[in-house]
Order: sequence, then C-alpha cells, then structure tokens
Amino acid sequence: MAAKRILLGITGGIAAYKSAELVRLLKKAGHSVRVVMTRGAEAFVTPLTFQALSGEPVRTSLLDPEAEAGMGHIELAKWADQIVVAPASADFLARLANGLADDLLTTLCCATEAPIALAPAMNQAMWGNHRTQRNIRLLQEDPQISLWGPDQGEQACGDTGPGRMLEPLVLAELIAESSRQGALMGKRVVITAGPTREPIDPVRYISNHSSGKMGYAIASAARRAGAEVVLISGPVALAAPAGVEVRQVITAADMLQQATAAVDAGCDLFVASAAVADYRPESCEADKIKKSSEQMALALVRNPDTLATIAARPDAPFTVGFAAETTDVARYAVDKMQRKKLNMIVANDVSVPGLGFNSDNNAVTVFWPDGQASIGPDSKQRIAEHLVALIGDRLGQAAG
Ligand code: PMT
Repeated sequence: MAAKRILLGITGGIAAYKSAELVRLLKKAGHSVRVVMTRGAEAFVTPLTFQALSGEPVRTSLLDPEAEAGMGHIELAKWADQIVVAPASADFLARLANGLADDLLTTLCCATEAPIALAPAMNQAMWGNHRTQRNIRLLQEDPQISLWGPDQGEQACGDTGPGRMLEPLVLAELIAESSRQGALMGKRVVITAGPTREPIDPVRYISNHSSGKMGYAIASAARRAGAEVVLISGPVALAAPAGVEVRQVITAADMLQQATAAVDAGCDLFVASAAVADYRPESCEADKIKKSSEQMALALVRNPDTLATIAARPDAPFTVGFAAETTDVARYAVDKMQRKKLNMIVANDVSVPGLGFNSDNNAVTVFWPDGQASIGPDSKQRIAEHLVALIGDRLGQAAG
C-alpha cells in the first residue's frame, strides 16, 4: 500500500476525540497527516493534541497570515492525496453539499482535486432529518465524495440509532482500501475526446454530435486514480478537467499528430473516446462555396485512424477503443477490437434515447479478449469511475 498525504478535517462533535486515535493509526501506517480543525472542533479537542500526534502544525483559520505566507490553503488543497473529514457534523455536511467555502475546511474541499471521504457523526434525529438527508443525497451524487458510515448504536446523548462515527480502526482500514484503489497511480494516460471538424470551406465543416463529456469524465476519473493525463480534445464547450493537460485539435489529422506526439513522450494507456470523422473533404475551398446548382457532390477521402495507428506501434500502450453503434452493437464492437488489435473496447448503443452522444448519461458494455462487463445506465462521471477501475484491473493483469 502506497503511503499517502492525508488531510484530516475535524468538525465539531463529541466523536472528535476519536480522531486522535485515527491520526495515530494513520501515522503508524506510514501516511503523512495534516490536520485542519473547524471552530466547532476546537470546542471539543485542542489543536495541540493533533499537532503532537501528527508532527505537523494544525490549521484552524482560513485567514491565517502566517500560514498563508507559507503553505497557503491552495497549496494545502494540492498537497492532499486524500481528504478525510471525521467527524463530519450535520452543519459541515450542509455547507459542503451547498458548495460553501466559508472556513478553511470547506474552502479546501472546494479547491482540492483529491477524493473526499466523509465520516458523518451526529445525533440520530439529526441524521434522520429530511434536510440532512437531502444534503446527503446531494453529496452521494458527487463523484469526488465517498460517505463512510455512519454506524448504528448507542450515542453520547443517550439516544440509540444511526449517527455514530465509524470507529478509527474501521476508518483507517477504509483509507488503506482507498490507497489500493489508485488504479492508475503513476501511469501516463493519453485520452482522445470530442468530435473532429473537417473543413469544407472557410465557414462549413463535417462533424458529429459528440460533446466530449464522456472523454472529459474519463480524463477526470483517470486523474483521480493517480494518472498523469493528457487529453486530446476536439472542439467542445467544456472546461479543462483539473490537473489534466488538454491539447486542443480540430481535425482528425491534428488528432493523429497530437496523439502520436503524446504517446512518443511516454504512455502506458491510450483511451480513444473521440468521435473522429472517418472522412474529410478531399479539398477545403479557399473561399465560401456559392449556391449555384440544385445539387452538389462533395468528394471525401478517408481520414487517418488515430486509434489503429497507436495500437499498431511496436511500443503500443494498453489501448482502449470506443465503438458507437446503432445496430448489432456487440458484434461490431468486438470486430473493431480485433481488427484494430485493441486490449479493450467500450461499446455504446447510441440508438437509445437520452444516452450516448451529447447526453449527461450513458450505458456501455466493455469487451476484452476473454470477458465483458456492462456499466450503467448511469451518469458519465460514474461510468468513467467504473471504467477506470476496470481498465486499471486489466492493465495490472496485462503487466503481470
Ligand atoms: O462525446 P459525448 O457526447 O460524451 O459522447 C460520447 C461518445 C458517444 C462519442 C463516445 O462514448 C463514443 O462512443 N466514442 C466513439 C465514437 C465512434 O463512433 O467511434 P467509431 O466507431 O467511429 O471509432 C472506433 C474507435 O476508433 C473509437 O475509439 C474512435 O475514437 C477511434 N477512431 C475512429 C476513427 C478515426 N479516424 N480515428 C480514431 O481514433
């Protein structure tokens, strides 16, 4: 298990005293731990305890001139491989669910790319309250966030029910488990996404409905899984995923050139989710074509195939292709995997309304030479998480 840089957030609750034991267990396991406490936490436990146990200064304030002069909050957000908030109070969960950044801990959660694990702890009635549950539902939809617990049982206030923080030993085991989940830790990954545009004249082009959402979600998930990611993107209206290097391209020829350069620089895994135009106009007119007759014919020539070119290299990385099909999805996809000599292919039935092209959701079946798995229907973010885990697994097995 790789040692991690863990940022432990402590919020106001009686369970805060148990977090001291959690710090001890994490240090014993070889992790670096930095502690951030909210004002509420300071009413239950002292920063000095956590400074002594972690061997690091404890941060309590967003606007701390001394700390901001050295390791500011953004650096702290970047430093963390994993944020764990234990205990996570009802108030903290509400603020996080609503995107507030009104203290150091919520600000760090907004600024970080690291996975965030929450260990809720509160009175059972507060846990069951419909507003808390609404916040929990919002947090569950967030692919960056995992909820660990709460446990059931007797509570400090005398009530019995759900709301107890998981025991430090259980939390330490969950952290160890998530450390093993860095499925692409240390891997260099190149991903293609979005459509290409093949110019006809200065104002027109051939393209398709790809939004890039699937590829961008894979890039984000791969980054979170520990990879260094280069995303080669056709023209889309999406922001660059945090921590991912995006190289913009327009045409299929540009895509091949950028992909080749990125793979030349070192690549363990190549994922082609782009919807590349198979053909381009034989020539691009220098001036806008005028309407002169009732019909016109456009001569098209075949575009280079980026995925097939990368897969055919003698030093080919592990290659994963996509296949968007409307009929005989599995047969066409497996045929593509074999013809292009891929390690895996992700088949998309794009005839299903509301899934696939330019949608937030998808459903895929992944094929590899001796197996297959179906993922979804689900959000593209969750499909990407599953896909990255599956690819990491296969990649690990291919490496022996
Ligand atoms: O972008 P979104 O709106 O989120 O939609 C996602 C998606 C539907 C575009 C995506 O999930 C998907 O299925 N992408 C593949 C689209 C496709 O039609 O692929 P294809 O069957 O034409 O090509 C097969 C594979 O070869 C693909 O991995 C493709 O990227 C690659 N290819 C194809 C042609 C070419 N010239 N170069 C390539 O690299």
